[in-house]
Amino acid sequence: MLNKRVKVYISIVIGLGLSFIVYSIINVPTKKIVDIILFAFFAFLAESMPIYTTKEVTVSVAFAIDLMAILIFGPYEGALIAAIGIGFQIGKYMDGRVRHIFNFPYYKTLFNISQIALSVGIGGLIYGYTGGVPGAYIYPNHLLSAILAAMIYYLLNTSIVAVLLSLLTNKSLTYVLTKEIKWMVPNFLFLAFLGIIMSEAFVRIGYVSLILLFIPLFMIRYMFKLYMDSKQSYYDTINVLVKALDAKDKYTAGHSKNVEKIAALLCREFGFSESHTEMVKIAALLHDIGKIGVKEEVLNKPGKLSDEELSIIREHPQKGYEILKEVPALKEVSLWVKYHHEWYNGNGYPDGIKGEEIPLEAQILSLADVFDALVSDRPYRKAFSQEGAYEIIVGNEGTQFSPKIIKAFKKAFEKHREEFKHDI
Ligand SMILES: [Fe+2]
Ligand SMILES: [Fe+2]
Repeated sequence: MLNKRVKVYISIVIGLGLSFIVYSIINVPTKKIVDIILFAFFAFLAESMPIYTTKEVTVSVAFAIDLMAILIFGPYEGALIAAIGIGFQIGKYMDGRVRHIFNFPYYKTLFNISQIALSVGIGGLIYGYTGGVPGAYIYPNHLLSAILAAMIYYLLNTSIVAVLLSLLTNKSLTYVLTKEIKWMVPNFLFLAFLGIIMSEAFVRIGYVSLILLFIPLFMIRYMFKLYMDSKQSYYDTINVLVKALDAKDKYTAGHSKNVEKIAALLCREFGFSESHTEMVKIAALLHDIGKIGVKEEVLNKPGKLSDEELSIIREHPQKGYEILKEVPALKEVSLWVKYHHEWYNGNGYPDGIKGEEIPLEAQILSLADVFDALVSDRPYRKAFSQEGAYEIIVGNEGTQFSPKIIKAFKKAFEKHREEFKHDI
């Protein structure tokens, strides 16, 4: 359900966007209609071939087309072209169903066309104000204005959507933006470059240039798709391993997912970059993978464990390390997994290292692991409440946990109490 702040924000964007669209319709000369329809068709094609960078975020090559629209025709034509292109886009839902304007929630369509009309329109106005003349040769006189227009369009587009994402997910705006930032720069440079070059080609040789445009656009889409697919198969492999472990160890099924969630919250407290956090999350998913090598009778034994059984279970960090260290991309991860049962005071295992010798990432795994174990039922005891688990962990500062990790845990717990809930 949309909360009030989201509704107010969406209404403001739609109000401003639709006003701009109406104003654009009034301002556009009738003789431009054919051009607008043709360009809108190309924008629609590009919008309908997005590339997923994450589940929620798509990169669209339509940026280059919209940029062309403002450099060739002007802000109002550009706004209309971009709005029609995005409004009619055809996409796919996660479950594979086809999504189009008639089955897509109307407020989402309205928001999309409004935000794009505003960003493209304002980008186009900036082009004019800084001396750019739509339809004239860009190089050399109007190049700076064109770059500026592209930047304004990109920044507005990104921030309007980022604010919405931040409101919807309750994550801070800086968090949402830094998450996307690694995509933004190369993406922007490529698409702005393409848009400007193609505008110049269009002004010089006309519609033939659009055919030239679509060849690189298809190529880049294909390259992105290959990259995303290979990333996906990497995650699929990790998930298969986690499932294999869950199937074997019935008491801790779902545990890895919860540890991943809590570890991610702690990473955020330490200000880890997105890719760093990603690696810790992978380590969290795989932290107990060494239990695959532990006999089922021991893993699933209902009662108390004998000393011998305990020492067998305690081999799992070392076993996990040995499994993972063979994968070059998981070298660091394998070390963090190895040390996820070490204690700050040196009383942990397998190596009994202490203090700062324990990598921070391993400390994160350790705390997340203990928290999830405490709030889960075990054969020999009932689950602790969230608060109970919190007290126990904080009470172990200086022994099991370093003051540094406890400080981060306190802050994360304070801020995201809801997310610490045990939901699997
Ligand atoms: Fe473990
Ligand atoms: Fe664990």
